[in-house]
Amino acid sequence: MSKRYWLPPTYEAIDPVRFIGNHSSGKMGFAIADQLTKLGADVTLVSGPSAQKSKQASVQRIDVTSAAEMLEACLVHFKDANACVMSAAVADYTPKEVAQQKIKKADNNLNIELKQTVDILSTLGAQKKNGQVLVGFALETNDEEKNAIKKLQMKNLDFIVLNSLNDDGAGFKKDTNKITIIDKALHKTVFPVKTKDEVALDICNKIIELLK
Ligand code: CTP
Repeated sequence: MSKRYWLPPTYEAIDPVRFIGNHSSGKMGFAIADQLTKLGADVTLVSGPSAQKSKQASVQRIDVTSAAEMLEACLVHFKDANACVMSAAVADYTPKEVAQQKIKKADNNLNIELKQTVDILSTLGAQKKNGQVLVGFALETNDEEKNAIKKLQMKNLDFIVLNSLNDDGAGFKKDTNKITIIDKALHKTVFPVKTKDEVALDICNKIIELLK
C-alpha cells in the first residue's frame, strides 16, 4: 500500500506569546490527503497549525508547529513514501533567537533578527530515490510560470502545482483554487477554477499516472 504525506502553515516563535505565521489555512493539503485515502493510499499527513480536520478517518496526522519540526517529521516519513506532496506554506525565516520571556514594550523600535529556515522540499528532492514522486506548490504574484519552473528544477520535483494570487478563485482560505500543473518535461496543463476537492483529485490523478 502506498504511503504519502504533506502539510499547512508553520508558526515561528518570537517569544512565549508571539509568532511569525502566514495566511495559509491548510485546506488544500487536507483535501489532497482525503483524496489520496479515497483512492486507496495509506496517508500520513504532517500538519502545521490548522483548524482543518481530515474527512477520512484513516489519515494518520502528525502535528508540528515550526519549519524545523516539519523538516524533522518529513525526513522520518519520506524514506518509505512512494509520493510526497508538499503544500505547506513553510516560513522562509525564523527568529535567530527566541526570547524566553514575553518581550516588553519599549520607547524605541523593535528589531527581530531572522535567519533562514531549511528548505524542506529541496532537502527531500536531494534525497529522492528512483520511483519516488515529489510534488511541490508555488503560489506566485508575478512572473508565475518562470518562478514555478525555477522551483520545479531547483527542488528536483516531478511536478509543481502553480497558483497565482492574481486569479479570482485562487488564494488563501478559499474553497476553490485555479491551478496549472507543470511537469519535469515542462509539459503544462491549465485547469479551470474548481473546488479544492476537485483540484485535489486532479493532483492525485497526476501522481497515480507517474507512479504507474
Ligand atoms: N518549501 C519548503 N520549505 C521551505 C520553503 C518552501 O519545503 N522552507 C516548499 C513549499 O511547501 C512549496 C515550495 O517549497 O511546495 C515552494 O514554496 P514557495 O514559498 O512558493 O517558494 P520558496 O522556495 O520559499 O521561494 P520564494 O518564497 O522566494 O518564492
